[in-house]
Parts: sequence; C-alpha cells; structure tokens
Amino acid sequence: MKRRSVLFAAVAVLTLSASAALAQAPIVIKFSHVVAPDTPKGKGADKFKELAEKYTNGRVKVEVYPNSQLYKDKEEVDALQLGAVQMLAPSLAKFGPLGAKEFEVFDLPFILPDKASLRKVTEGPLGKRLFAKLETKGIVGLAYWDNGFKIMSANKALREPADFRGQKMRIQSSKVLEAQFRALGAIPQVMAFSEVYQGMQTGVVDGSENTPSNMFTQKHHEVQKYATLSDHGYIGYAVIANKRFWDGLPADIRGQLDKAMAESTAFANESAQKDNDDALAEMRKSGRIEFITLTPDQKAAWRKALDPVWTDMASRVGKDVIDEFVKETKAATN
Ligand code: LMR
Repeated sequence: MKRRSVLFAAVAVLTLSASAALAQAPIVIKFSHVVAPDTPKGKGADKFKELAEKYTNGRVKVEVYPNSQLYKDKEEVDALQLGAVQMLAPSLAKFGPLGAKEFEVFDLPFILPDKASLRKVTEGPLGKRLFAKLETKGIVGLAYWDNGFKIMSANKALREPADFRGQKMRIQSSKVLEAQFRALGAIPQVMAFSEVYQGMQTGVVDGSENTPSNMFTQKHHEVQKYATLSDHGYIGYAVIANKRFWDGLPADIRGQLDKAMAESTAFANESAQKDNDDALAEMRKSGRIEFITLTPDQKAAWRKALDPVWTDMASRVGKDVIDEFVKETKAATN
C-alpha cells in the first residue's frame, strides 16, 4: 500500500513537471529568407526576432535563417505552405507562381513615382485586397516591407533601349519582369537569388536588375562592369506566415507578435533608404563597377520602350488592379 502511494506520488510529480516543461517550451517561429543579414529585409527580420522575443517574455523564439541557408526562392514558399517554416518575406515579384498574379503590379516599369505614394498602396485598400488573395493559399499577409528602387547591371553599358538587345538578364519569377526585358529586346532568365553571383561570374547571365543593397551584399559589383541608375522599378516584400500556424497561436501571443511586427515594419521601412544609399556609396568607392546616369532623353526612351508592358500585362495582373494602384499613388502625389 505504502509502495503504491509512493509510486502514485512519483507519477504525479513527473506528470506535473512534464506539463510545466511543456507550458514553458517556447513556440518556435522559423523565419527563412534569401538575402544577407545586412540588408533592409535582413535587418527587419532580426528586429522582429528581438521584439517578438521581448514582448512575449521568451514564450516565442524566432529563428532567422538568412542567405537561402534553408531554402531558395521557390522552395521557401512551398516550405511555408507545408509548415516547415512559419514566416517568410518574399519579394513581391515572387507571388506569381503561387497564383497571386496581382502582386506583379508592383513590377510594372515606372509605376511607382516615389516611396510616399507607395504607402498609399501598401497601407490602403489595395494592399489589403492583395493580402486577402493569399488566404486561400494557406498564407496570411502580415506587413509590407521596403527595399528600394532597382538599378540595372551588365557587362555592357546600358544607356539606350537598343543596348539591351540579346543581353541575358536574370529575373525574379515574375511574368511582368519577363515582359519588361522582352520589350527591351533582352533575354530574361528566371534564376534563384542565391545563384545570381555565380551566374554572372560564369556568363550564364550577362546582367540583372536589383537594389543597391542586394547587389552590394551579394558582391554583384565584382562581376559586373556597369550599372545604370535607372530607378525603373521597385523591390519590396510581403511578410507572410503560415495561416494555420498564425491562427492557432494563443490570442495574447498573436497580439504581442502583431505589435512586434508593426514596430519592425516601421524600423525596416525607415532604414531601407539609408541601406541602399550606403550600399551605392560603397560600390562607388570600390571602383569595381562604373555607374551610369541616364540623360532625360535616354530615360524618356526607356519609358517609351517599356510602355507596352502595361497593356500587355493588364490581363494578367488585372486592369482594375493597375488602375487602383495608379489612382492611389496619384492621390499621394497631388
Ligand atoms: C531577388 O531575388 O532579386 C531579390 O528580390 C531578393 C530579395 O529578397 O530581396
């Protein structure tokens, strides 16, 4: 009898301590991304980790995996849907293969006048509408993060549209970007971000478009002779989570994570411009690459050559989406 009650007591203690351990085991969020830590997105992810762990008193642990350490461009979206990772921040140009083609509106050449008008879209009804598209894919959109305006790099000086003829240009997986390069007479080639440096080095591609911060941190300036400061397009991100995971979080935890997300978004968006300015300055200082500024006439020729992309892509992206984008950004500039 005595022995039995000792046994019961031991089992009770074990059960209690096991459930206490379970109660204390942190919820782990794996946040995977493809860029270097020292970039707008890399810094935003690290800031989210810091704030999420702080606001939840360690009940949430965020593991950030930068530089395609876990997954490359396409794989990471599959991994999110399968629940192998819980958070990502893919570039807006990478949602087409998922079936959310409307995101490619951000890729239309010269669609964005400036960053101030961008906020009208990302923080307005269109931004919400785009996120709603993700819900049916098992994904929840949490925030939009900035990178910046793109420049065009190659081993040839790209001044006039004709200079693009026959150039093999790496693109992200966006049909609008494909159309953009075809309109210039170039040969677009989808390639994962982590493979671009080697692609340039070995001549698989001749050039690419990206932001200065992405180019610099991947050392593209060491394997490209020229970059044109064209600001012809924009790279930004949708921070997304696996919907089942996110909806299943205890409400108090989700509230704290929302707060961490709001603050890391403000942080990422405030520092992105400086990151790009600094990266450009570093690349200039390196002397490894020559920067080209377009004359007003050359810029006008780029615009003219790229104009048809809007019409050609209207059926893919949605004319209504394009119109709403333009209306919202115009309202901001007026
Ligand atoms: C790219 O693939 O070129 C970039 O958009 C990568 C990134 O996430 O910034």
